[in-house]
Amino acid sequence: MSEKIRPVRKAVLPVAGLGTRLLPATKAMPKEMLTIVDRPLIQMAIEEARQAGIEEFIFVMSAGKDVLLRHFECPDALMEMLEKRNKIEHMQKVQESSVPDGAIKTASQDIALGLGHAIWCAKDLVGDEPFAIILPDDTVRHPQSCLAQMMDAYNQSGGNVVATCIVDPQDVSKYGILDLFSRDGNMVGIKGLVEKPKAENAPSDMAIFGRYILQPEIFAYLDRHETGAGGEIQLTDAMVHLIHDQPFYGFVFEGERLDCGHEVGFVKAQIAYALDKDSISQEIADYMMEKLREYHAETMATQSPKSRQEAA
Ligand code: G1P
Repeated sequence: MSEKIRPVRKAVLPVAGLGTRLLPATKAMPKEMLTIVDRPLIQMAIEEARQAGIEEFIFVMSAGKDVLLRHFECPDALMEMLEKRNKIEHMQKVQESSVPDGAIKTASQDIALGLGHAIWCAKDLVGDEPFAIILPDDTVRHPQSCLAQMMDAYNQSGGNVVATCIVDPQDVSKYGILDLFSRDGNMVGIKGLVEKPKAENAPSDMAIFGRYILQPEIFAYLDRHETGAGGEIQLTDAMVHLIHDQPFYGFVFEGERLDCGHEVGFVKAQIAYALDKDSISQEIADYMMEKLREYHAETMATQSPKSRQEAA
């Protein structure tokens, strides 16, 4: 790493949101506790950050989200009970999903004013050093964690790096979209960003996916509390200012992106991660084959003879 490139030690995880897109599942439980096979989204995010060498996690929280902190404890009573029953594997699972005391810090965001505001709430805990951001409902399926891939790139480039991927033209209005000027391997030079543009105004089809490495100078712009798309304080708008001052890159990550903040992405993630898990993959695959056969038989039965012919 060049002397000028400062290491990234901290990650901010905005977890104050209400998760309305996943109601009713999120009525009483934070969306970050929704589980993909055997791990809640928040644990997947922490594991990803740890793989990237992050040592400190800053949760930007709202009322009723304390269960997210409890999830990372290693309760004595539970461990004693498991030990008495000789459940060594279970003890390991509890231990592995725990985080040492003091590694998680919390900031509160009492009113939902947008992603930019959530990150601004972590300003004092981040201090004057570069930091990562992970949006826990965006997951990337790959042996090397997305943030670890970005960190490798950052250790060469320095500056600011946002994860990016191509999205369907009809989906550009759901994301921050890159205005790019160059591409070198996985690194994309960015000259602008637009938060949730209409398809006809989008500068490209490359979207920001929920991983960022940013320099602390971003806070000078977040301090302004400017509102943008949807009347919210947008992180994207603060980044647009920073692009004029510092190097700024998009990083095209390897792996399958799964947006678990939506029903379809959440279900796809269950399937993909279940098939990744050796102990259950065969049984799940057999079950899926059976269900697909049933599904096709039913759809064929309800189709008109003409569309059946076309499908054949
Ligand atoms: C946020 C960001 C957006 C980014 C997206 C990735 O939007 O504002 O720029 O593309 O996350 O998931 P949100 O999903 O919170 O609406």
